[in-house]
Amino acid sequence: MISDDLLQRGAALLAEAGISDPQREARLLWRNGGETGDFLAMVARRAQRVPMSQILGYRDFYAHRFIVTEAVLDPRPDTETLITCALETAFTRVLDLGTGSGCILLSLLAARVDAQGVGADLSDAALEVAQQNCAALEIGARADFMQSDWFAQISGTFDLIVSNPPYIARSEMEGLQPEVRLYEPRMALTDEADGLSAYRIICGGAPAHLAPGGRLIVEIGPTQANAVAAMIVDTGLIDVQVHQDFDGRDRVVAAQMPN
Ligand SMILES: C[S@@+](CC[C@H](N)C(=O)[O-])C[C@H]1O[C@@H](n2cnc3c(N)ncnc32)[C@H](O)[C@@H]1O
Repeated sequence: MISDDLLQRGAALLAEAGISDPQREARLLWRNGGETGDFLAMVARRAQRVPMSQILGYRDFYAHRFIVTEAVLDPRPDTETLITCALETAFTRVLDLGTGSGCILLSLLAARVDAQGVGADLSDAALEVAQQNCAALEIGARADFMQSDWFAQISGTFDLIVSNPPYIARSEMEGLQPEVRLYEPRMALTDEADGLSAYRIICGGAPAHLAPGGRLIVEIGPTQANAVAAMIVDTGLIDVQVHQDFDGRDRVVAAQMPN
């Protein structure tokens, strides 16, 4: 059993490090640490601003728990908007570009037991984590993971293409929280340019990889809806729609391949 003293000491260290809810985080670390030594070691890492998900080794996202390491983006609640949007339509073959932990693809396949899909990422280290999550969620051979620079290694067509690409502009990186800026993979965050480069490739390549009537659904940053919607209109996809997240910010753009 943890002593109140130890818990308060942990919370004080977290407060000193600028953590906004130190009491809650200290209790969370204690519940997951068990031993006194583990608790203090975890507090020390959190005080260095290591993300909670990397310390605990997991993040709960949508309906499942995902393994998280420093090789993948910490799955965000905002991304659940994309999942909800995708599950409003029928699909049996899905492509997830920039799959990271696999949280999007595997959430969709877990919800649609007759569907199968491909998760692609440029990062081999991220793909290893996605494979582990695939095994943990018992999705098995319905998910195939492959290294690819966006569409470069992708063949065939899909009735759903989803992506949450790196969309932070290089100029915005300095302003990010230390947890994100120092510990999440840089290639998961920024395109090192204006934040829109990945959309140019993904939107431009989507028509060649969508079956007739298939859907493209991408997550966006809240200021990017007009730019991304315009790119999609240019490709000839139809029914372009912008969806908001739980906080009312533009978060997803969806469109359809004509039949
Ligand atoms: C914002 S993260 C999204 C991760 C995960 N899909 C999620 O929503 O939590 C973007 C992902 O794109 C991958 N990525 C970056 N550049 C890429 C490229 N050129 N081709 C494929 N994937 C890329 C990163 O490695 C990272 O896993």
